[in-house]
Amino acid sequence: MTTTRDLNNRARQQWDAKASFWDALHGFDGNLFHKTLVGPAAERLLAVRAGERVLDVACGSGQMARRLEALGAQVVATDFSAALIAKAKARTPESKIDYRVVDATDEDALMLLGAASFDAVVCNMALQDIADIEPLFRATKRLLRAGGRFVFTITHPCFNLSSTVFGQERYEVEGKLAYRMSLKQTEYLTPAVHEGIGAVDEPTAHLYFHRPLHVLLNTAFAAGLVMDAVEEPAFPEGTVGGSRLSWTEYTQFPPVLAARLR
Ligand SMILES: C[S@@+](CC[C@H](N)C(=O)[O-])C[C@H]1O[C@@H](n2cnc3c(N)ncnc32)[C@H](O)[C@@H]1O
Repeated sequence: MTTTRDLNNRARQQWDAKASFWDALHGFDGNLFHKTLVGPAAERLLAVRAGERVLDVACGSGQMARRLEALGAQVVATDFSAALIAKAKARTPESKIDYRVVDATDEDALMLLGAASFDAVVCNMALQDIADIEPLFRATKRLLRAGGRFVFTITHPCFNLSSTVFGQERYEVEGKLAYRMSLKQTEYLTPAVHEGIGAVDEPTAHLYFHRPLHVLLNTAFAAGLVMDAVEEPAFPEGTVGGSRLSWTEYTQFPPVLAARLR
């Protein structure tokens, strides 16, 4: 039987193998998806003040950590992929960002970062990649100072699934041709593990852990976190730079869910 630990180990191997691709995809400050949707929503919800201590969980190649440092935060950034942490460090060897290899499914390892020592915790586009989110939510509650905030962005569980089918329809309105974009969903309510491609040009698939909203949010509420803000960013009309049938064309559907909890 495949255990959560097996899945987590497989996921780590996949991310280690993807580290160079991921680092190149995002460059110093993120790809179009991050620059337009993820980064701005996370920054609005975090509203980081200079001098605050902020933890970036599952930091990948470190673009959010670098941005947080530029905003004046003292940043601790963690990921379970040693290869990604090496890529992140190599981008700004002179920075004061405290990069560490930490598995977010290991509550004890997270707590070594310091109970009640963070003003904010951020986790960008990673909860759907983490095999078990209960330890992270429990630890986050304990890592935050009183009143501290936890902001996550995630592939939107209602619209952005590995099983989502992207469509375009041509039709006629009052004697004229018109086009509209549609998404077809065939799975939602049942938590599921899939191999998915992620970004259109990702060379290899990796594990996705789909959780419907009630599972995702009730796990956070059970850990003592309470949600006080939510955003559903989508690409604005006229965004250039996306590939064919990519999210840039689906302006009525948010590929990202962003939330703040305390
Ligand atoms: C889609 S990437 C997002 C990375 C970065 N936050 C960003 O926004 O670019 C997902 C990240 O989750 C990390 N990850 C997956 N499972 C993890 C775990 N159990 N512990 C820590 N990091 C994990 C991966 O290594 C990868 O860096």
